[in-house]
Amino acid sequence: MTDLQSRLAAGLAARTRLGLRRELRPRGPDSVPRVDVNGRRLINFAANDYLGLASHPRVNEALAGGAKRWGAGAGASHLLSGHTRAHAAFEKTLADFLECERALLFSTGYMANLGVIGALAGRGDSVIEDRLSHASLLDAAVLSRARLLRYAHADIEAARNCLGRAAGRRLLATDAVFSMDGDIAPLANLVQLTRETDAVLVVDDAHGFGVLGNSGRGTLEHLGIGSAEVPARVVTFGKALGVFGAAVVGSRNLIETLVNHARTYVYTTAFPPALAVALGAALAVLRAEDWRREKLREHIARFRDRARTRGLPLADSSTPIQPVLLGQVDIAVAMARLLETQGYYVPAIRPPTVPEGSARLRISLSAAHETAQIEGLVCALAQAFDAHG
Ligand SMILES: Cc1ncc(COP(=O)(O)O)c(C=O)c1O
Repeated sequence: MTDLQSRLAAGLAARTRLGLRRELRPRGPDSVPRVDVNGRRLINFAANDYLGLASHPRVNEALAGGAKRWGAGAGASHLLSGHTRAHAAFEKTLADFLECERALLFSTGYMANLGVIGALAGRGDSVIEDRLSHASLLDAAVLSRARLLRYAHADIEAARNCLGRAAGRRLLATDAVFSMDGDIAPLANLVQLTRETDAVLVVDDAHGFGVLGNSGRGTLEHLGIGSAEVPARVVTFGKALGVFGAAVVGSRNLIETLVNHARTYVYTTAFPPALAVALGAALAVLRAEDWRREKLREHIARFRDRARTRGLPLADSSTPIQPVLLGQVDIAVAMARLLETQGYYVPAIRPPTVPEGSARLRISLSAAHETAQIEGLVCALAQAFDAHG
């Protein structure tokens, strides 16, 4: 074996020994509520398809129709010839829905976070983030070359302290709903804090958009915070909207600045226009079918009620992300395996995705689940917890 090959093999073997090896598991075409993995039909609690839109017939047809009309690909970056009227139309619809002046499409939420932070902060500046921020926000700060300061989770005084120590232009970036914990950031306090200290607030609402708020506008609507209070907001389309892609929404000046300076916008191919057509259809369903959010809320309440009764160690989350906190990697992995034998697909989340000593099962609830599946999951979880927890 060459040096490289033996080094790679040793690294992988070490991860396997620690129970931290990540492996791909190709699935069949169905996802939620039932997924086909390794030839077995499992009830899927591992998808972020919170409203069940990923396989909605109207969205599928829009995607196919979009491809017939616009072709398979955009053919260039937005600033060359990739920006179609389909992209522009969806941007307008989204900006109106989110009550913002403008929206700008990015291929992924990861790229949107890199783009917005890199455009607003650079060498000599400071990016302040919650300790549990999503990897893309952390990477965005590192890539921006600004100094990264992190505060204890959801701790406003610690955030204030970081701002006090920060140099240059100061950006405070946070998840609105924390992706592995499901709790909601103290956004009203962060709005206040950034206003008092003249810092710029960037909110990543990947998991709130479409789910939270009476009309699905997201975490700001849920908390009664006006759109104009948050200068830069990221929403993603691979979760509640069930499709793919992301956007930054905000003022006209912000969006024009991103068009000029966001490297993950400028130096990449525009996503396929057919996707923009599908996104328009998904957003129309999301707006028309409030029952999906209501059903999801019922599932969340039911899951938490039953799980508490069974003594499961839940996190303080009111969103569809419901972690069962276990601590040790081997316990999380053993429970996930046992659940799979019972017909439930529930992923074990391990470091480095979550901090050392905080391995967990991450349950994602969806409006596509049936009540009996939630009840069944809690029974299976309780049995697995008795066996291993
Ligand atoms: C909070 C948060 N932000 C950003 C992303 C990245 O979004 P995308 O999957 O569209 O790249 C994710 C998850 O994937 C996330 O959980």
